[in-house]
Amino acid sequence: MELPKSFNNKTTKWGIYLSVIAFIVILGLLIFAGNIDEWSVAGILSFVGLVIVWIVGLIMIPLGMSKTEKKSSPDGKSSILNLTNPKYRNAFYVFGLVFIVFLLVTTAGAYKSYHYMESVKFCGTTCHVTMEPEYTAHAKMAHADAKCADCHIGEGVTGFLASKVEASKELIAIVTGTVPHPIYANEGIHEVAKEACSHCHWSQKFQPDRELKHIHFLRDEDNTEWDIDMTMHLAAGTEPLGLQKGIHWHMNKDVKIEYVATDKDNQVIPWVKYTNLKTGKVTIFESDDEPLEKAAFDTLTVTQMSCLDCHSRPAHDFKPAEEFINSRFVTGAISKDLPEFKSAAMAACVEEYGTADSARMMIPRKIKSFYEENYPEVLKDKKDELNKSIAAVLDGFTKNVFPDMKVRWDKYYNNLGHMKSNGCFRCHDNHHVAKNDEVIPKTCTTCHTFNAQGTPGEMQFATAGQLMEFRHPGEDVEPEDWQEGLCSDCHAGVGP
Ligand code: HEC
Ligand code: HEC
Ligand code: HEC
Ligand code: HEC
Ligand code: HEC
Ligand code: HEC
Repeated sequence: MELPKSFNNKTTKWGIYLSVIAFIVILGLLIFAGNIDEWSVAGILSFVGLVIVWIVGLIMIPLGMSKTEKKSSPDGKSSILNLTNPKYRNAFYVFGLVFIVFLLVTTAGAYKSYHYMESVKFCGTTCHVTMEPEYTAHAKMAHADAKCADCHIGEGVTGFLASKVEASKELIAIVTGTVPHPIYANEGIHEVAKEACSHCHWSQKFQPDRELKHIHFLRDEDNTEWDIDMTMHLAAGTEPLGLQKGIHWHMNKDVKIEYVATDKDNQVIPWVKYTNLKTGKVTIFESDDEPLEKAAFDTLTVTQMSCLDCHSRPAHDFKPAEEFINSRFVTGAISKDLPEFKSAAMAACVEEYGTADSARMMIPRKIKSFYEENYPEVLKDKKDELNKSIAAVLDGFTKNVFPDMKVRWDKYYNNLGHMKSNGCFRCHDNHHVAKNDEVIPKTCTTCHTFNAQGTPGEMQFATAGQLMEFRHPGEDVEPEDWQEGLCSDCHAGVGP
């Protein structure tokens, strides 16, 4: 088969070399380098680089030909697109055929790598330090199998495009070193679409009740265990369940709750509107603590309540120190026989450290110096137990606190409850009053009833048909302290 003379030039030749070599390497990678999902990020980027080299090579082939033609032809024009000439037609067919084969092979690879870019591993590990907190927390929660993209990419083409814009902004921020520490979703990057939850959850599937058992250890000499066993009343009040009102009642299709918040984190909510969509009845509750002026109201947005208003940390719940320490007492990783260990470990973990390395160095040092000062005999008689317990504390710390990103429990609001953040008590505080004096109730049994509480061996159990009053663990807190105020008055941040 005869090819045009203009085929003989440097640019075209190099174009052929580059595209053939790139193609062979691409093919080799796709065949021999295993599943693309398991490639490293460097592997993926090299793959994208090879595809670019290949395309550039292909473009160089006709480009070189066209240039040579222009030089040699008297009218300075190229005739490479002149398909009536059999030489050019041959060149065109060869080029076209090769291009189609190449395209098929590479599209398969490009498609796979595009999918990989939406995978948990890519989102979570590409910028290791930046995403480490969210990736680590996500891997140990109920949503470990949900992809980052399932929650973080909105619906349809707009959601898809918005996510690519955000991702590019983030890449630029990482390259230029302007990523905020910590990252907040409501500052643009990583915003979560409200409708995301309903792709996998729907209200007909909500459970009516759920039993929760929390095991605590107090900051006394014996690290006294204190159990709280309660039933969460979760009913959504949907048709088959009758009109039973429970926690998921807010999400009943006949119920619409709207609110106005005065801060960007929705922590201060002075105005709440409940519309019964079936009867059309509207009730407005206004805070009598911090009433909202009419002028201020007009400048604020009215938000409809969604899953995220309660489940604010469904995938990245950075546990507070007391929780990750308690859970390690439960498994036995931390010994109960070390006097005041809970207290000493808490004091070491609530300190703010500059880097993960300094935390790893300082936490054992702090706990040991506590024992040197207060119980020197422990360092001699229970050395192994102490070292093992310190290692368990460090394990909890590294899975929940990320000093390099300035991430820990008190940097984000968990609105599911009312201890560290006001959560439910933002509205349920007995101070949101309607015209008819009805309030959004703070009565403890509205949301949960206590089945048992106390120290094992001396547990107090609820008797059938009677509601048991809450008893605050430990000796120092009086009922009026927690009845009148909010739990977060003492428990927020690094408290109590
Ligand atoms: C089940 C849904 C869900 C999944 C799955 C999920 N996230 Fe999130 N993510 C959220 C929610 C909700 C927030 C908080 C949104 C807010 O504060 O408005 C959030 C916040 C974030 C933030 C902002 C910082 C922060 O901690 O608030 C980052 C970064 C993030 N996610 C990364 C990831 C990565 C990486 C993955 C995959 C490993 C992932 N997310 C998977 C729901 C999810
Ligand atoms: C990709 C599907 C998917 C998406 C999207 C999703 N979830 Fe889930 N969710 C699950 C699965 C699967 C479970 C585990 C179910 C189980 O353990 O029975 C779960 C469990 C939960 C649980 C129970 C956790 C526990 O401790 O038992 C809550 C609460 C929850 N999801 C809330 C949310 C919220 C809020 C969103 C939206 C931000 C969301 N989910 C988005 C799939 C999803
Ligand atoms: C008014 C606050 C609130 C709202 C709004 C809310 N939830 Fe919940 N949800 C809770 C509480 C509280 C629990 C119980 C947590 C526990 O037991 O630890 C719960 C439990 C769950 C569970 C686990 C129990 C079960 O039924 O399987 C899932 C799943 C869940 N919620 C999903 C959602 C989804 C999806 C939405 C939005 C459609 C939503 N929730 C809206 C407060 C809320
Ligand atoms: C934005 C405000 C707001 C937030 C936040 C909120 N609620 Fe509510 N909740 C309401 C309103 C309004 C009602 C209806 C009060 C009424 O008319 O009795 C209500 C009613 C309830 C009821 C039914 C009460 C009854 O009358 O039997 C339960 C249970 C409940 N909420 C649980 C929760 C839980 C649990 C949380 C936190 C995870 C929470 N709510 C957060 C506004 C809120
Ligand atoms: C509006 C609903 C609501 C009201 C009212 C309410 N709680 Fe809760 N409470 C919750 C939710 C939601 C949780 C979190 C459950 C979980 O851990 O998933 C919770 C958790 C708790 C816990 C467990 C804390 C832990 O870390 O073990 C205790 C104890 C508790 N509440 C006591 C009270 C007391 C006492 C009152 C009355 C002053 C009260 N609650 C009023 C919704 C409510
Ligand atoms: C006046 C301050 C104060 C208030 C208000 C308060 N607490 Fe506490 N709480 C404490 C202190 C101090 C401790 C530590 C007790 C100890 O470890 O010996 C504690 C410990 C706890 C613990 C055990 C925590 C752990 O380390 O495992 C629980 C559970 C608890 N409180 C629940 C509540 C609830 C629920 C409320 C609101 C209804 C509340 N507290 C309000 C001061 C307070």
